Amino acid sequence: MAGPGYRRRRGSYGIDAPYAFGAIAVLTVVWLVIAIVRAINSGRVAPLLPALFMLTIASFIFHTTLRGKFLVWAGLLGKLGLRGDERILDLGCGRGAVLLMAAEHLSTGRAVGVDLWRRADQSGNSSEATRRNAIAEGVADRVDLHTADMTALPFEDNSFDVVVSSLAIHNIPGGAGREKAITEAVRVLRPGGQLLIADVRGTRQYQEQLAKNGTNQLVRRRLGWRFWWGGPWAPTRLVTGTKPEL
Ligand SMILES: C[S@@+](CC[C@H](N)C(=O)[O-])C[C@H]1O[C@@H](n2cnc3c(N)ncnc32)[C@H](O)[C@@H]1O
Repeated sequence: MAGPGYRRRRGSYGIDAPYAFGAIAVLTVVWLVIAIVRAINSGRVAPLLPALFMLTIASFIFHTTLRGKFLVWAGLLGKLGLRGDERILDLGCGRGAVLLMAAEHLSTGRAVGVDLWRRADQSGNSSEATRRNAIAEGVADRVDLHTADMTALPFEDNSFDVVVSSLAIHNIPGGAGREKAITEAVRVLRPGGQLLIADVRGTRQYQEQLAKNGTNQLVRRRLGWRFWWGGPWAPTRLVTGTKPEL
């Protein structure tokens, strides 16, 4: 069931990690076909069990990427208590799943998305696709897109009220690069501003780097089954914090 604040999406948001997802989907289908043939030949259901396990993993990934992450982020954004005049930055916004839902909370504010539009990280990724989604969701007047690396953000210090990132920072190769992205996120956040980072791995490192950068009220937690990347062994976690007032 959709949570409060969720509105059915009109845009088209692609699939996260499409090559990995494609490989798992093909493997699952092949395995299932072989298992069904074996089960029919042997008259036993046992050969089906591993294939059904694979199917469950694939189903969770499919759900997370197409629906679960939207439901979870709708809830997270709804709880921020936004007034509507904020400047919100989405690091690695991709086709706009989180960015455009954030924009729906704004009236005079701006939702700013930064990305390198890597198609290995999200299918059909491009700034044009995100712009088309912004139009489809009716928020294009509040959205700015920048082609930039989140390890070197083209923004002034203290220029955003909220910084979010979803399933993106782990794509930066090397721990040093990921730490740079976290440091940049804190740099552009205004004192008192809020930070929310959801990711499938690396969240402990993000939390440690945020602590080094002086971020307050740090919390790291699981986001529940809707955000599992295949099962309970691959949960998405959320790190939240607040930049200290001057
Ligand atoms: C799995 S997608 C997630 C997109 C979006 N946040 C979502 O939840 O649908 C990861 C995104 O991070 C972007 N990305 C990867 N490395 C980046 C970097 N160094 N700077 C900016 N964006 C980056 C990719 O291009 C991709 O759009």
